[in-house]
Amino acid sequence: MTARVVVGISGASGAAIGIRIVEILAALEVGIDLIVSAAAERTITEELGPDVLAGLGNLPARRHGVRDIGATIASGSTPTGGMIVAPCSMRTLSAIAHSLADNLLVRAADVHLKERRPLVLVARETPLHLGHLRAMAVVTEMGAIVMPPVPAFYLKPRGIDEVIDQIARRAVDTLRIAVPTASAWRPGNAQPHLE
Ligand SMILES: Cc1cc2nc3c(=O)[nH]c(=O)nc-3n(C[C@H](O)[C@H](O)[C@H](O)COP(=O)(O)O)c2cc1C
Repeated sequence: MTARVVVGISGASGAAIGIRIVEILAALEVGIDLIVSAAAERTITEELGPDVLAGLGNLPARRHGVRDIGATIASGSTPTGGMIVAPCSMRTLSAIAHSLADNLLVRAADVHLKERRPLVLVARETPLHLGHLRAMAVVTEMGAIVMPPVPAFYLKPRGIDEVIDQIARRAVDTLRIAVPTASAWRPGNAQPHLE
């Protein structure tokens, strides 16, 4: 049986990526522990609408309150196969970089680093100042994978949904818990989605 995966959705733009990751993991029959920050509840409302926020409870995931620092996944004794934070705000990135584990999302990420388990941060901000870049370097030195949500233009996506899907699949594939499902580049393959 594949180990559970923790998904954190923080308050950067691109909440749809985090939700798509939950759907992809569920399709792979991976158990999911989901944490949504307070700021992410705002971005979900702004970007996707109040109905999506209200429907979070219907996602195939075990939801934890971001303030519940006593949840199972706050402890390294709880086995997991890895964690993805998508999107990852610069605030959450900075907190992870400095072990400021004052909420469950950052604590769970801190646990993944200390237990040397995969931690993928879909860090989203632009442009980046030196503080953002330094925080990315710090988490990379500690073992995290920083994976900004950059579109794969070479796959010629037909719209935003295909961009979101590809970014989400690449983040899931990076955990290496299942056979990769993201589209891969092949020379001359101008429209891979038509296959
Ligand atoms: C619509 C909207 C979009 C935002 N986009 C970003 C973003 O792309 N990157 C970022 O670092 N912060 C972004 N923010 C600001 C964060 O939500 C804010 O820094 C918040 O404190 C992050 O908290 P969290 O890390 O606990 O989720 C955005 C806020 C709003 C309302």
